[in-house]
Amino acid sequence: MAFLEFVDVIKEYGAVRVLHGVNLAIEHGEVHALIGENGAGKSTLMKILAGFVAPTSGEVKLESRRLQFSSNTDAERAGIVLIHQEFNLIEDLSIAQNIFLGRELKRGVLLNTQHMNLEAAKALARVGLQLDPRTLVRDLIVPHKQMLEIAKALSRDAKILVMDEPTATLTPVETDVLFEIIAGLKASGVTVVYISHKLDEVKRISDRVSVLRDGHLITTRETASTTQHEMASLMVGRDLEDMYPAKSIPSRKASDVVLELQHFSVPGWAQDIGFGLYRGEILGFGGLVGAGRTELFEALLGLRPRSSGTVLRHGRPIQIHNPRDAAKAGLVYLSEDRKGKGLLVDFLLFQNLTLSNLSSYAKPLLNQNAEQRALEKARDEYGIRTGNLAVAAKMLSGGNQQKLSLAKIMQLEPEVVILDEPTRGVDVGAKREIYFLMSALAAAGKSVIVISSELPELLGVSHRLIVMRQGQIAGVLEAEHLNEQEVIQYATGLKSNLGQHNPVNA
Ligand SMILES: Nc1ncnc2c1ncn2[C@@H]1O[C@H](COP(=O)(O)OP(=O)(O)O)[C@@H](O)[C@H]1O
Ligand SMILES: [Mg+2]
Repeated sequence: MAFLEFVDVIKEYGAVRVLHGVNLAIEHGEVHALIGENGAGKSTLMKILAGFVAPTSGEVKLESRRLQFSSNTDAERAGIVLIHQEFNLIEDLSIAQNIFLGRELKRGVLLNTQHMNLEAAKALARVGLQLDPRTLVRDLIVPHKQMLEIAKALSRDAKILVMDEPTATLTPVETDVLFEIIAGLKASGVTVVYISHKLDEVKRISDRVSVLRDGHLITTRETASTTQHEMASLMVGRDLEDMYPAKSIPSRKASDVVLELQHFSVPGWAQDIGFGLYRGEILGFGGLVGAGRTELFEALLGLRPRSSGTVLRHGRPIQIHNPRDAAKAGLVYLSEDRKGKGLLVDFLLFQNLTLSNLSSYAKPLLNQNAEQRALEKARDEYGIRTGNLAVAAKMLSGGNQQKLSLAKIMQLEPEVVILDEPTRGVDVGAKREIYFLMSALAAAGKSVIVISSELPELLGVSHRLIVMRQGQIAGVLEAEHLNEQEVIQYATGLKSNLGQHNPVNA
C-alpha cells in the first residue's frame, strides 16, 4: 500500500474532461517528479491533492485513508502544502505578514508583530534570503518572491510538499539553494512532488518520475534508469527524431538577397555588423547572453538608437525609425518577452490578433465578424489550442500564446520575420510546431531570422548560423560546420573569422 495514492481521479471543467481516471502512487519520503506538456493536467491533479479543487470522481488516499478536504486550509492542517505555479502572495503586505497569513501569532488579542518578524527572518534564512521581514512583497524582485513562497511553505511544516514549476523564475544560484533545501527535506522524511519542464532538473533531484499526457497517467519510472530523451518522448507521445523539419537550402544568388545590413552599429552593443538574408532562408543568430543579438535587432526596428549603418531591402537603402516603418518595409519582429511586449494578456484572443492591423478590419466600423473569421483561420493555421476562442490571451498556455503572437505578426503580411527566443517557456510539443511553422514560412518564400539561446534548436532549424560575440560577428556557419562545438568556439572567442569582410556572404 503506497503512502499517497490517487485512485481513478477524474476532473471535468464543464463538458471538458481534463483528468481521465488518474492512478498514481507516491512513496513516503521520495522526491517524485511529475512531468508533462502544458495542459497535461499536472497542476489540476496537485490542486486536487491540496484541497483547492474537488475531483469530479475518484479519490486521494493518504496512508490508506481517504482525504476529503473542503478547502486548502484543511489540506495544510493535514500537512499537505502546495507551492503554486502562479504567485500566491499579497503584494501590499510585508514578508512576515504573508508568511503568517491566516495563522497570525497573537499576544492576548493583539498581534505579536515582533515575534512574527523574528520567525519570518528565520524562515527567510532557511532559503538563503537576507531580507528585512517588514519589506513589502511588491518591492521584491521576482526570484525573491519565489523563494518567499518556498519559505512560506516550509514554515507550514509540510509532510507532503508539492512544488509546481518552482524554478521557472529562479536564477541558477537560487535553483541550487532550492535543490539543497529539497535534499534536506527529503533527509528529514518529507515527501516532495516536483513539477517541472526542465528535464535536467528532474534528472538531478527526483527518485521517480511520472508522466502525464492529455490527462492520462502514462507511466511512472525510476529516474536513474530513464534518460531525458526518453522522458521527452514520453511527454509528447512520439519519438523526438522528427523534432525538426527537413531543411531545403534556398537559392543564394545576389538577386535573392532580401535584406542586407552594412556597417551597422548600436552604441554599447554591436559594432560594424554586416550580413545578407536570402529569400526563403532561416538565418540563426547564436551567441552567449549579452552578445548583442537582441539589441542589434531592436536597433534595426528603431526600438533603440543606432550610430551608423545602412539597411538595404532588395538592394535599395531604406530608413526605419520605428516598428511601423519596419512593417511597411515588410519586416516584423517578435520580441523575446512575449508577455511584456507582444501580447496584451488581459485582452481577448481576436483583439490581440488584429490589434496591429486594425485598419484592414475597419470599413469604416470594425467588422467583428471578419475579426472572428481571422481568429478561426489563425487557430487552424497556427494550431492554437484552446477549448474556447472567447477568452483572454492569458488563459492560453505559453506555447499557444506564442502561436497567437506569430499569427498576430503574420497579419501584417511581412517578408522578413525576426523571432527572438520564439520557444522560451514553451513545451516540447509546441516547440516542434513552431519549428514547422518557421519552416513553412521559409518554404512560402518568406525569410526568417531566429535568435535563440537553445543551441540544439538553432542548429535544428537554421540554414545558416551567425555567431555573435561581444557585439561583433564572430563566425558564419553552414552545412557541416553547423555543429555545437563550432558554435561554442566562436561564441567564446576560441575561434574567429573576424575581419574577413564580405557583407553579403557574411
Ligand atoms: N479553472 C479551470 N477551468 C477550465 N479549465 C481549466 C481550469 N484549470 C485548468 N483547466 C484546463 O485543464 C487542463 C489542464 O490544465 P493544468 O492542470 O493547468 O495543466 P498543466 O499544469 O499540466 O499545464 C488544461 O486544458 C486547462 O486549460
Ligand atoms: Mg501547470
